Amino acid sequence: MSAERVTVATVRAKKAAGERLVVVTATDYSFARILDEAGVDIVLVGDSLGIVALGLDSTLPVTMDEMVVFTRAVARGTRRALLVADMPFLSYQVSAEEARRNAGRFLKDAGAAAVKLEGGVEVAATVASIVAMGVPVMGHLGLTPQSVHAMGGYKVQGRDEERAREILDGARALEDAGVFAIVLEGMPRELAARVTAAVGVPTIGIGAGAVCGGQVLVLHDLLGLWGGHRPKFVKRYAAVGDEAGRAVRQFCDEVRGGLFPDEEHSYD
Ligand code: KIV
Repeated sequence: MSAERVTVATVRAKKAAGERLVVVTATDYSFARILDEAGVDIVLVGDSLGIVALGLDSTLPVTMDEMVVFTRAVARGTRRALLVADMPFLSYQVSAEEARRNAGRFLKDAGAAAVKLEGGVEVAATVASIVAMGVPVMGHLGLTPQSVHAMGGYKVQGRDEERAREILDGARALEDAGVFAIVLEGMPRELAARVTAAVGVPTIGIGAGAVCGGQVLVLHDLLGLWGGHRPKFVKRYAAVGDEAGRAVRQFCDEVRGGLFPDEEHSYD
């Protein structure tokens, strides 16, 4: 596998070549290394870390300072993949100036190469101003978890034509604003197909069917590390949580039974 860095130019080239993009979230150095060496194209430090790493009920309380700490750790483990950091709630909604400062912080202090933020038409001007200062932006439409209260829960979006049109308009506005890719989350695959056909940038699906230009999963879901709610779109590729539990139970038994440490694990 080539060790050449994935950049937004690579993303464009892959889209032009009809290649699908692979995106996985990461929250720490060790897993970032595994993802990088396994060949994922984009490592995303998603604000879903608020749920899977910080134990919060939603992504809303996640702060910039927390995102910067996690992004720094992931950056140290990411040599080849494009590193995208998620802008947390209230880091970009209040003013474009604040949004630019926070986006810039991810590159200056945390080692990210791009940022992601949620929303469509309403954030397009902010996206354009971040892009204008040289920071690549990934959009995020459909089921946008930072709007959980406005959506009345984590519900599939765009089943009705009015909302579908809103999402389509959002995708066009984001493309005009200069995003290099758009995450499509929690929408019928037929709508994801319409959005994918309507824009020239790659769409990255999560719960949006197979037609998108790439797919993203949260690492904790992919590995079976997360024991909470499992949406229909999540496929577990391993049962790491079960295996970790088995290993720790064995350690408990061996310590309590006087089997660990043995000769092999002791110094003379
Ligand atoms: O926060 C996150 O992990 C995300 C992905 C699900 C796209 O935004």
